[in-house]
Amino acid sequence: MWWVWWVSIVVGIMAVIIKIYLEKIKGRCTSKADLTGKTAIITGANAGIGFATAEDFARRKCRVIMACRNMERGEKARAKLVEKTGNTNVVVRKLDLGYMASVREFVEKILKEEPRLDILINNAAAAGAKRLITSEALEYTLATNHLGPFLLTNLLLGLLKKSGASRIVMVSSLVNIIGKINFDDMTWIRKFDNGEPYFDTKFANILFTKELSRRLEDSDVVINCLHPGTVRTELLRDVPQPFKLFINTIGRLYFKSPDEGAQTTIHCAVCDATKGISGQYFMDCKPSDHTWYINKKAYDEGLAKKLWEVSEQMTGMTSS
Ligand SMILES: NC(=O)c1ccc[n+]([C@@H]2O[C@H](COP(=O)([O-])OP(=O)(O)OC[C@H]3O[C@@H](n4cnc5c(N)ncnc54)[C@H](OP(=O)(O)O)[C@@H]3O)[C@@H](O)[C@H]2O)c1
Repeated sequence: MWWVWWVSIVVGIMAVIIKIYLEKIKGRCTSKADLTGKTAIITGANAGIGFATAEDFARRKCRVIMACRNMERGEKARAKLVEKTGNTNVVVRKLDLGYMASVREFVEKILKEEPRLDILINNAAAAGAKRLITSEALEYTLATNHLGPFLLTNLLLGLLKKSGASRIVMVSSLVNIIGKINFDDMTWIRKFDNGEPYFDTKFANILFTKELSRRLEDSDVVINCLHPGTVRTELLRDVPQPFKLFINTIGRLYFKSPDEGAQTTIHCAVCDATKGISGQYFMDCKPSDHTWYINKKAYDEGLAKKLWEVSEQMTGMTSS
């Protein structure tokens, strides 16, 4: 059975080479920016990449608004954050992006309470395994990953503009490359498989980024999107067990930690190097508008404009 040894050695060497390569390409935000006096909203800040982003901002002395759909999980995460960073200027506010009424309620409270907003991180997302139509007749994954962030960002634009040079970050994903927008079936009546709505909405994040950056050309507000890398988080909590076991095993070896996964978000939100840059797609703290990493239709302005109009109608947002 000598060949078993050879195969094991080759597989072992390949595993080490892949690990070294992945470590080498990991981007890290090197900015030492202090965020005293600034305010940031982070959606889905109670877990994963969102929590790591909130922790970084809290260490930079930012006022952090953790926008969470579950207040109990949010308050628990806040307590952990305060304990880790010593920053008590951290609050939890209720936001379920799957419901436009919740988005409106959240914004109403923010506009009442907050005099400024410097950073908006659209981080929360669901990789829903089941098709779920909400009481607002919207599909929950589409609402959480695209329509909610679309409405939230638009309703907060006034406050962002008023606060001077402010930044919006959309956390998308590399899977955007296989996403598509089916305007005649926005709730996936014809076909809903486990991945499709997630891929499509992550592509929608990119089209939204590009369209909004064009609309913000004459303002001080910038918007960029990114792929955080493959990160050990709870995102795939709903996938079937054998697949989950496989992912968790590989994940322990190769995936980024949440802190590493948050680096590109932080880079886009605070770094001097990204100041004034808008409409770009980042990976590992670098602009990455290469056809391998971004959907071929990402530059289709007609498609982005149409998605904007359809999203306005679906969210009940009056045209600005
Ligand atoms: N992990 C990866 O490998 C990976 C790769 C590419 C892109 N991303 C992107 O990275 C971002 C963060 O994901 P993650 O990996 O950190 O996942 P995660 O650990 O599952 O965190 C997702 C966060 O979003 C929140 N959330 C989900 N649905 C929501 C809703 N309807 N309203 C408000 N909040 C909601 C979750 O709240 P609950 O705790 O209440 O569920 C949680 O706080 C996502 O945009 C994801 O698409 C991740």
